[in-house]
Amino acid sequence: MSRNSSIKVTLKNISKHFGSTRVIDNLDIEFKAGTLTTLLGPSGCGKTTLLRLVSGLEPPTGGEIWFGEQDVSDYSATQRDVGMVFQSYALFPHMNVEKNIGYGLGVLKEKKEKIRDAVTKVLQTVNLDGYQKRYPDELSGGQQQRVAVARALVLEPKVLLFDEPLSNIDSKLRRSMRDDIRNLQQKTGITSIYVTHDQAEALSVSDEVVVMHNGAIEQQGTPRDLYRRPGSAFVANFIGDSNVVDGVLEVEAGRSAILLGGTRIDLGERQIDNLPGKIQLSLRPEMFQLRETGDRERHVVGTVIHSAYLGAVTEYFISTPMGDIFTTSPSSDGQYEKGKEVFLHFHPDQLIILPPARA
Ligand SMILES: Nc1ncnc2c1ncn2[C@@H]1O[C@H](COP(=O)(O)OP(=O)(O)OP(=O)(O)O)[C@@H](O)[C@H]1O
Ligand SMILES: [Mg+2]
Repeated sequence: MSRNSSIKVTLKNISKHFGSTRVIDNLDIEFKAGTLTTLLGPSGCGKTTLLRLVSGLEPPTGGEIWFGEQDVSDYSATQRDVGMVFQSYALFPHMNVEKNIGYGLGVLKEKKEKIRDAVTKVLQTVNLDGYQKRYPDELSGGQQQRVAVARALVLEPKVLLFDEPLSNIDSKLRRSMRDDIRNLQQKTGITSIYVTHDQAEALSVSDEVVVMHNGAIEQQGTPRDLYRRPGSAFVANFIGDSNVVDGVLEVEAGRSAILLGGTRIDLGERQIDNLPGKIQLSLRPEMFQLRETGDRERHVVGTVIHSAYLGAVTEYFISTPMGDIFTTSPSSDGQYEKGKEVFLHFHPDQLIILPPARA
């Protein structure tokens, strides 16, 4: 298993209909070789369906699936050589760890010694060497999940598929488990597709994130790209918190400005693809500094309608002429009480201008 043998996975014009329900329609997507890509989207948008199409457990209604330079559309799940890790780890309760992990190799009629060696090696990979004789109910949730990952890895699959593997694990352990999965994936270089609806998990484990919406791809990119340059209000709201507000773009002699509420924000010579007129902006909660003073010509002014102290930061809802704004502010900046008038200071570069909505 080396990075050299990693393959890309390509779906070409894939559709999946269940009766008259079109879950996925003419979708094209490429998962790059050796990377971990997350499918992120609300419940029912088609993530599991897409994963099952890649695995071969579900036949597509139309389109092709390629592993590297090979068309695997007509291959069964076994022939495709994929490993799957599910939300319920689905370990065999009456088998110890060694038997659970070796099960697949046993089905393939591998020799006993070979299975034992492979199991030992993969247990080292997932940091569970020495746990061979334990039964699933003698393991923590995180350890069980690592056994489930080991069971998939031991078959040296070309592609690894994860369907919400951490959703049954409490939030503290989830953090360390997602690091484990990330490290394992990087160590093995197996092209991996990972389904979640937890955006923090998606951002932290992935090389690329695919945001799905109603069975279609809303945007694909690196976590940083999606956060900094969301292509739509849907992505801006789904990746991180966002205030989506309306503004008016003015362009004159190569200089741009945006009217936000009653305030005119000069953008200088910043290159903007939108046409002048009405636009939508995404304002991240952390971009504002709240001050008691400011310049009404340049800063948006508002009134605190709610504040909540959360330790390091304080959250605010602020009523402004551009709508109610959610912001987080370092608690060391002091706390503004309900009813207080505040000026929202920010750097114009931090305004994210959303591309025009597609027809
Ligand atoms: N076998 C099936 N027959 C009919 N409809 C189905 C079938 N499997 C899935 N669907 C429908 O397809 C849509 C997508 O389902 P899917 O399980 O892929 O969603 P998901 O994005 O994984 O959601 P979740 O986050 O809740 O797991 C849903 O509307 C679901 O009801
Ligand atoms: Mg699902």
